Amino acid sequence: MPDMLVPLYRLPRMPDLAPDIKIRPALPFESHVLLAFVGQHFSSKWVDECTVALAARPSRVLIATEGSRLLGFACFDVTCRGFFGPTGVDPEARGKGLGKALLLAALHRLRDEGFAYGIIGQAGPVAFYEQACGAVVIPNSDDGVFDNALV
Ligand SMILES: CC(C)(COP(=O)(O)OP(=O)(O)OC[C@H]1O[C@@H](n2cnc3c(N)ncnc32)[C@H](O)[C@@H]1OP(=O)(O)O)[C@@H](O)C(=O)NCCC(=O)NCCS
Repeated sequence: MPDMLVPLYRLPRMPDLAPDIKIRPALPFESHVLLAFVGQHFSSKWVDECTVALAARPSRVLIATEGSRLLGFACFDVTCRGFFGPTGVDPEARGKGLGKALLLAALHRLRDEGFAYGIIGQAGPVAFYEQACGAVVIPNSDDGVFDNALV
Protein backbone atom coordinates (compact mmCIF):
# COMPACT_ATOMS: atom_id res chain seq x y z
CA MET A 1 0.00 0.00 0.00
CA PRO A 2 1.41 3.41 -0.93
CA ASP A 3 1.48 6.68 1.00
CA MET A 4 -0.49 9.58 -0.54
CA LEU A 5 0.11 13.34 -0.55
CA VAL A 6 -2.72 15.80 0.12
CA PRO A 7 -2.50 19.50 -0.76
CA LEU A 8 -3.95 21.21 2.31
CA TYR A 9 -4.16 24.63 0.63
CA ARG A 10 -7.16 23.57 -1.48
CA LEU A 11 -9.16 21.36 0.83
CA PRO A 12 -12.86 20.87 0.19
CA ARG A 13 -15.01 22.42 2.89
CA MET A 14 -16.53 20.19 5.55
CA PRO A 15 -19.62 18.28 4.37
CA ASP A 16 -22.92 18.81 6.18
CA LEU A 17 -23.80 16.02 8.61
CA ALA A 18 -27.06 15.06 10.27
CA PRO A 19 -27.64 17.31 13.32
CA ASP A 20 -27.22 14.42 15.77
CA ILE A 21 -23.76 13.49 14.40
CA LYS A 22 -20.80 15.27 15.99
CA ILE A 23 -17.10 15.21 15.18
CA ARG A 24 -14.73 16.18 17.99
CA PRO A 25 -11.47 15.15 19.70
CA ALA A 26 -11.80 12.13 21.98
CA LEU A 27 -11.51 13.01 25.67
CA PRO A 28 -9.26 11.21 28.18
CA PHE A 29 -12.09 9.46 30.06
CA GLU A 30 -13.35 7.99 26.77
CA SER A 31 -10.05 6.22 26.06
CA HIS A 32 -11.22 2.75 27.14
CA VAL A 33 -14.25 2.95 24.86
CA LEU A 34 -12.24 4.12 21.84
CA LEU A 35 -9.43 1.60 22.31
CA ALA A 36 -11.91 -1.27 22.71
CA PHE A 37 -13.73 -0.14 19.54
CA VAL A 38 -10.49 0.01 17.55
CA GLY A 39 -9.37 -3.38 18.86
CA GLN A 40 -12.73 -4.96 18.06
CA HIS A 41 -13.13 -3.61 14.53
CA PHE A 42 -9.54 -2.95 13.40
CA SER A 43 -6.09 -3.95 14.72
CA SER A 44 -3.64 -3.89 17.63
CA LYS A 45 -1.35 -1.54 15.70
CA TRP A 46 -4.18 0.95 15.37
CA VAL A 47 -4.85 0.62 19.12
CA ASP A 48 -1.19 1.62 19.65
CA GLU A 49 -1.52 4.68 17.42
CA CYS A 50 -4.76 5.75 19.12
CA THR A 51 -3.07 5.37 22.51
CA VAL A 52 -0.40 7.85 21.42
CA ALA A 53 -3.05 10.18 19.93
CA LEU A 54 -4.94 10.18 23.23
CA ALA A 55 -1.85 11.31 25.15
CA ALA A 56 -1.99 14.78 23.55
CA ARG A 57 -4.35 17.47 24.87
CA PRO A 58 -6.48 18.09 22.98
CA SER A 59 -6.14 14.56 21.70
CA ARG A 60 -5.03 13.93 18.11
CA VAL A 61 -7.85 11.50 17.44
CA LEU A 62 -11.19 12.81 16.22
CA ILE A 63 -14.29 10.74 16.83
CA ALA A 64 -17.69 10.70 15.14
CA THR A 65 -20.50 10.24 17.62
CA GLU A 66 -24.27 9.93 17.65
CA GLY A 67 -25.34 10.70 21.20
CA SER A 68 -23.09 8.51 23.34
CA ARG A 69 -22.44 5.97 20.53
CA LEU A 70 -19.01 5.90 18.87
CA LEU A 71 -19.26 5.56 15.08
CA GLY A 72 -15.73 6.21 13.84
CA PHE A 73 -12.32 7.72 14.51
CA ALA A 74 -9.43 9.39 12.72
CA CYS A 75 -5.89 10.12 13.99
CA PHE A 76 -3.72 12.96 12.70
CA ASP A 77 -0.11 13.99 13.29
CA VAL A 78 0.50 10.82 15.30
CA THR A 79 2.34 8.12 13.35
CA CYS A 80 4.73 10.73 11.92
CA ARG A 81 4.48 14.53 11.81
CA GLY A 82 1.86 15.54 9.25
CA PHE A 83 0.47 12.03 8.78
CA PHE A 84 -3.25 11.26 8.61
CA GLY A 85 -4.47 7.94 9.98
CA PRO A 86 -5.29 5.41 11.06
CA THR A 87 -9.02 5.90 10.52
CA GLY A 88 -12.04 3.68 10.56
CA VAL A 89 -15.83 3.72 10.65
CA ASP A 90 -18.06 1.13 12.35
CA PRO A 91 -19.00 -1.33 9.57
CA GLU A 92 -22.69 -0.67 10.31
CA ALA A 93 -22.24 3.10 9.85
CA ARG A 94 -20.29 3.13 6.58
CA GLY A 95 -21.49 4.79 3.40
CA LYS A 96 -23.09 7.74 5.21
CA GLY A 97 -20.32 10.29 4.77
CA LEU A 98 -18.64 9.78 8.16
CA GLY A 99 -15.29 8.60 6.79
CA LYS A 100 -15.03 11.64 4.53
CA ALA A 101 -16.11 14.01 7.30
CA LEU A 102 -13.52 12.60 9.73
CA LEU A 103 -10.84 12.81 7.03
CA LEU A 104 -11.59 16.44 6.15
CA ALA A 105 -11.92 17.50 9.80
CA ALA A 106 -8.47 16.04 10.54
CA LEU A 107 -6.90 17.57 7.41
CA HIS A 108 -8.32 21.01 8.29
CA ARG A 109 -6.62 20.67 11.70
CA LEU A 110 -3.30 19.80 10.07
CA ARG A 111 -3.61 22.85 7.83
CA ASP A 112 -4.49 25.07 10.78
CA GLU A 113 -1.36 23.80 12.56
CA GLY A 114 0.82 25.01 9.68
CA PHE A 115 1.28 22.05 7.38
CA ALA A 116 1.06 22.70 3.63
CA TYR A 117 0.69 19.01 2.77
CA GLY A 118 -0.71 16.05 4.63
CA ILE A 119 0.38 12.46 4.11
CA ILE A 120 -1.98 9.52 4.16
CA GLY A 121 0.19 6.75 5.58
CA GLN A 122 -0.28 3.36 3.89
CA ALA A 123 -3.49 4.32 2.13
CA GLY A 124 -5.71 1.26 1.73
CA PRO A 125 -8.69 2.68 -0.20
CA VAL A 126 -6.71 4.87 -2.64
CA ALA A 127 -9.81 5.83 -4.67
CA PHE A 128 -11.54 7.06 -1.50
CA TYR A 129 -8.66 9.46 -0.75
CA GLU A 130 -8.34 10.61 -4.38
CA GLN A 131 -12.01 11.50 -4.46
CA ALA A 132 -12.48 12.85 -0.94
CA CYS A 133 -9.46 15.18 -0.66
CA GLY A 134 -7.53 15.21 -3.96
CA ALA A 135 -4.72 12.99 -2.62
CA VAL A 136 -2.17 11.58 -5.06
CA VAL A 137 -0.08 8.44 -4.69
CA ILE A 138 3.56 9.05 -3.69
CA PRO A 139 5.84 7.00 -5.99
CA ASN A 140 7.94 4.21 -4.43
CA SER A 141 6.26 4.65 -1.03
CA ASP A 142 4.99 1.08 -0.51
CA ASP A 143 5.68 0.07 3.11
CA GLY A 144 7.30 3.49 3.74
CA VAL A 145 8.03 4.06 7.41
CA PHE A 146 6.13 0.88 8.28
CA ASP A 147 8.77 -1.35 6.60
CA ASN A 148 10.12 -4.03 8.96
CA ALA A 149 7.81 -2.98 11.79
CA LEU A 150 7.94 -5.23 14.84
CA VAL A 151 5.23 -7.90 14.85
C1 LIG B 1 -12.49 3.86 4.36
C2 LIG B 1 -13.64 4.19 5.32
C3 LIG B 1 -13.09 4.98 6.51
C4 LIG B 1 -14.68 5.04 4.59
O1 LIG B 1 -15.71 5.41 5.50
P1 LIG B 1 -17.21 5.64 5.03
O2 LIG B 1 -17.92 6.35 6.14
O3 LIG B 1 -17.82 4.37 4.58
O4 LIG B 1 -16.99 6.58 3.77
P2 LIG B 1 -17.97 7.77 3.27
O5 LIG B 1 -19.38 7.32 3.44
O6 LIG B 1 -17.58 9.03 3.93
O7 LIG B 1 -17.59 7.83 1.73
C5 LIG B 1 -17.31 9.06 1.08
C6 LIG B 1 -17.18 8.78 -0.40
O8 LIG B 1 -16.09 7.87 -0.62
C7 LIG B 1 -16.55 6.69 -1.30
N1 LIG B 1 -15.86 5.54 -0.72
C8 LIG B 1 -16.03 5.05 0.53
N2 LIG B 1 -15.21 3.99 0.72
C9 LIG B 1 -14.54 3.81 -0.44
C10 LIG B 1 -13.54 2.89 -0.87
N3 LIG B 1 -13.10 1.90 -0.06
N4 LIG B 1 -13.05 3.02 -2.12
C11 LIG B 1 -13.49 4.00 -2.95
N5 LIG B 1 -14.43 4.92 -2.59
C12 LIG B 1 -14.94 4.83 -1.35
C13 LIG B 1 -18.04 6.64 -1.02
O9 LIG B 1 -18.71 5.94 -2.03
C14 LIG B 1 -18.41 8.11 -0.99
O10 LIG B 1 -18.55 8.59 -2.32
P3 LIG B 1 -19.63 9.75 -2.68
O11 LIG B 1 -19.16 11.00 -1.93
O12 LIG B 1 -19.52 9.87 -4.15
O13 LIG B 1 -20.95 9.26 -2.19
C15 LIG B 1 -14.35 2.89 5.83
O14 LIG B 1 -14.75 2.14 4.70
C16 LIG B 1 -13.50 2.02 6.74
O15 LIG B 1 -13.53 2.16 7.97
N6 LIG B 1 -12.75 1.07 6.14
C17 LIG B 1 -11.91 0.13 6.91
C18 LIG B 1 -10.72 0.80 7.50
C19 LIG B 1 -9.84 1.46 6.44
O16 LIG B 1 -9.62 0.94 5.35
N7 LIG B 1 -9.31 2.65 6.80
C20 LIG B 1 -8.42 3.41 5.92
C21 LIG B 1 -7.01 2.96 6.16
S1 LIG B 1 -5.84 4.03 5.34
